[in-house]
Amino acid sequence: CTQAIRGSFFDITAVVDMPTQLPEQARYIEDGLLLLNGGEIVSLQPWEEGRLQLADDVPVLDYRGKLIVPGFVDTHIHYPQTEMIGAYGEQLLEWLQQYTFPVESQYHCPQHAAKMSAFFLHQLLSNGTTTALVFGTVHPESVDALFTAADGLGMRLIAGKVMMDRNAPDYLTETPEQSYQQTRALIERWHNKGRLSYALTPRFAPTSSPELLSKVSQLKAEFPDTWMHTHLSENPQEIEWVKSLFPAHKNYLDVYDAYQLTGRRSVFAHCLHLEEEEWDCLHKTDSAVAFCPTSNLFLGSGLFDLNTCWQKGVKMGMGTDVGAGTTFSMLQTLGEAYKVGQLQRYKLAACEAFYHATLGGAHALDLDSRIGNFSPGKEADFVVLDPAVSALQQMRHANSKDIWEKLFVLMTLGDDRNIAATWVNGQCVWQTHSEVKAA
Ligand code: GUN
Ligand code: FE
Repeated sequence: CTQAIRGSFFDITAVVDMPTQLPEQARYIEDGLLLLNGGEIVSLQPWEEGRLQLADDVPVLDYRGKLIVPGFVDTHIHYPQTEMIGAYGEQLLEWLQQYTFPVESQYHCPQHAAKMSAFFLHQLLSNGTTTALVFGTVHPESVDALFTAADGLGMRLIAGKVMMDRNAPDYLTETPEQSYQQTRALIERWHNKGRLSYALTPRFAPTSSPELLSKVSQLKAEFPDTWMHTHLSENPQEIEWVKSLFPAHKNYLDVYDAYQLTGRRSVFAHCLHLEEEEWDCLHKTDSAVAFCPTSNLFLGSGLFDLNTCWQKGVKMGMGTDVGAGTTFSMLQTLGEAYKVGQLQRYKLAACEAFYHATLGGAHALDLDSRIGNFSPGKEADFVVLDPAVSALQQMRHANSKDIWEKLFVLMTLGDDRNIAATWVNGQCVWQTHSEVKAA
């Protein structure tokens, strides 16, 4: 091994079918040693066992007093919307027209896209998010800039250019053929390059003509290992609109399903008002959904039904959905998810919440063989959490009786201040000014 890290570690060791199975898969090692070989995890063991295997020439990085968890996975976010986060007053369709489309119009400019990509990735990393599934804009330049920046950091990232050809301003629409050609060129340039992957990204059904959806379908058939990323059933007016635009389809999801856009690598953001048949279709096709609590509350879209999601056996990950979402922080996002649960009598335990933010999210993105916990052979992406960075947190941390309570307090009181360092591919890519010492 080439690096050794000492500290407290928490992860979930296996994907589960039901939240009741989570406590037995949870692993907490209060004094642990993580061994890395370059960007790969070799082992995680209690310090007393691990130190015996340690070669003399490998220095031990000492993070004692910190809690180290797998890097957070954000399963739905729009990088160009970073600059309009917190726009006042509207629900989805008006919010898109009034705020989103004008901001997205700027990403034809490579310089602007590069500047915002760097800012965006810094926001992710300083919040402990090491992998994300990301919307660009309709402009290929937006995606080139983002992938270039992510590649420079060694981040595992999935992204795509928005595809849309109707019901949006002229300056943001394209023809189905242009959309096909530009997307195809981006796939060839970026898909499977290092840790980068491409997601076909039709914005949502209302901005897609049947011809455009056919092109998306054609690309999925030509490049079957790409991802598919879109929105589904977020807002009641949106759903009515889809019904009027696609009257021949049984329901909203059926529009995507009819074009073979459901499947193991398909991720549908929101899914707040699904019919029973749509849940069943998500399950049957092994599609995943992204739960975006801060966005759903901010736009007044609705409450995600976690219980049904488990009961229907649908894969789910957490999404911030910035800029409709109001934070990049996965800790804050989990805190809001807890409140969404409370409004529906669902008790989101810390163990389950951290699962969704790590291994569960990785599973939703079909990346659980590579990231999501500290299993040997996985990629070394992790976050060093400082569990108490304010007087209030220090008091509450000290009087917490066990790891569950400490994790729960982190998700109710925590935010970016709690991220001491973020590691990607075996390298520290972000850290607070407080120093790290070698043991
Ligand atoms: N539906 C279609 N486009 C968008 C978007 O940019 N954000 C959200 N939250 N929903 C959408
Ligand atoms: Fe979104």
